[in-house]
Amino acid sequence: MPHRPYIVGNWKMNGTRAMLAEARAIARGAARYPDVDIALAPPFTLIGALRAEVSEIGVGGQDCHVAVKGAHTGDVSAAMLADIGADFVILGHSERRKDHGEGDALIRAKAEAALAAGLGVIVCVGETLEERDAGKAEAIVSGQVDGSIPLGDAAAEAVATGKVAVAYEPVWAIGTGRVAAVEDVVAMHAAVRARLVAAYGEAGEKVRILYGGSVNAGNAADLLAAEGVGGALVGGASLTADAFLPIVAAAGAGEG
Ligand code: PGA
Repeated sequence: MPHRPYIVGNWKMNGTRAMLAEARAIARGAARYPDVDIALAPPFTLIGALRAEVSEIGVGGQDCHVAVKGAHTGDVSAAMLADIGADFVILGHSERRKDHGEGDALIRAKAEAALAAGLGVIVCVGETLEERDAGKAEAIVSGQVDGSIPLGDAAAEAVATGKVAVAYEPVWAIGTGRVAAVEDVVAMHAAVRARLVAAYGEAGEKVRILYGGSVNAGNAADLLAAEGVGGALVGGASLTADAFLPIVAAAGAGEG
């Protein structure tokens, strides 16, 4: 099923106010690609400023707490993200799974909290190199999808309205310059799709599955043209307009 391509920049822990100029340049460039959904997830500290300065692209967070508010020093809730103007939140990124010990059940709870706050979600999954070498990539990723996607009535509604996305990001491809082979990406996206349809029924076809892991201007066209790839979650190559806009262009070129 064709989806509107979704190209999301994950700035991770990069970006001070000086980088808002890049966001503005990305938003200006984005205007040339009306058939592509484009978004940036800057650090929490820049979400408000970015939202105030750019209206042409989506703006999101990189994590949220499961609670709406309370005694959770250092955390930020989905309601707070929505309040500052965020449209979505990335959840379960492998860096959070690893650095913060986040597991599937917590990620599902966060995703359901985010939907309750009116945000869209991008739930991340992906296998390690050891898991791939052991022939377990599909089983691991299928289990992560089963365990961490949002469920319930709110999720069904969000799926129907395109507010749920999954990012397949092999851990060994993130920030390494090593990209998954297109045939492996196709196979993994098919495995993710099967689990989405198992969970959501036919509506599971509506969920966009993004590929992430060392996407750049040189490889974006091939990856985005691959069967089942609905967009890209881009880290390093989203930090400047010069690096990011060619990826958006590759998505735009693939349409129609
Ligand atoms: P990368 O990061 O593009 O720098 O590999 C992708 C991600 O972690 O989302």
